[in-house]
Amino acid sequence: MMLSYTGQTDAVGEFAVAVGDGLRKLNQRELPSAYLYDELGTALFEAITLLPEYGLTRAEERLLRRHAGDMLRRLPPPVAVVELGSGSGRKTRWILEALAARESVAYFPIDISAAALIKCHQELAHIGALSIVGLESSYLEGLQEAAIRRRPNQALLVLFLGSTIGNFHPPAAEKFLQDIRRNLRPGDALLLGVDVKKAIHDMVLAYDDPAGVTAAFNLNLLSRINRELGGDFVLRHFEHHIRYQEINCRIEMHLRSTRRQTVSIREADFTCTFREGETIWTEACRKFRVEEIPGIARRTGFLCEAQWVDTEWAFAENLLIAD
Ligand code: AVI
Repeated sequence: MMLSYTGQTDAVGEFAVAVGDGLRKLNQRELPSAYLYDELGTALFEAITLLPEYGLTRAEERLLRRHAGDMLRRLPPPVAVVELGSGSGRKTRWILEALAARESVAYFPIDISAAALIKCHQELAHIGALSIVGLESSYLEGLQEAAIRRRPNQALLVLFLGSTIGNFHPPAAEKFLQDIRRNLRPGDALLLGVDVKKAIHDMVLAYDDPAGVTAAFNLNLLSRINRELGGDFVLRHFEHHIRYQEINCRIEMHLRSTRRQTVSIREADFTCTFREGETIWTEACRKFRVEEIPGIARRTGFLCEAQWVDTEWAFAENLLIAD
């Protein structure tokens, strides 16, 4: 695989600023969910996808396995595939295998982690007629780069899977889809995977598994701050806490302070006292109604061409075409 690096950042400095800004919010302290995914956090998320209570990933894999042919029939060749967040490649293989059976395929996985890109390459290297160009960068910079590298007659199929769109705040989600659209030509496609609203008990359990894997994923954010920014969080004085917010139709992941305590973070030049019961909000996981996707598509410059919904776990794969 070719690896290409398009970013340039002061990663520790940005992390410190984001942590300081989020924890200074007095109504509701926050930490940005993007920082859940260091190497350990990514491995814990992979473990989450195997939990019996977390049906999303299996549902999406079923949809892609069963319907990849139907999805691709709607896109005339030649097609280059871009994936925002390369993941492990486990789900993407169904699309790539179906596409490689009809044409030679260029695949551009985009991820900020080179390790993730290498793993994705290992998972997919067996597919013949596939050239993989990993782009180590942010989603939009990577997409811009892939759009430049496509051959003039190639349409782009952008994959944004796993309901990652649900981790954006709603206005930011639509802005992000518009930004994707700006990098596409009419006729290019976006395959968007979203988790669908279901019984509250099932939604909550998916984020509060009895084995405590999601709790470890959440708490790892505090140990990451300790490791990388010189924080002194005592992990056993915080607990994983899940809320369902009906108005916004979202699961919220929090870390709740089990006592009054003071924490300092050297690199963020920050000290604060948490009240007993006070929480830090670490992630929002929005759940969608299948019927709201065509409207989201229209507002962001796409037409919703087709939708596939899993019957075992409500999850929808949506094929949007750039208008
Ligand atoms: C990556 N993202 C779509 C997951 C989700 O379900 O919102 C992240 C996650 N957080 C806790 N469990 C899974």
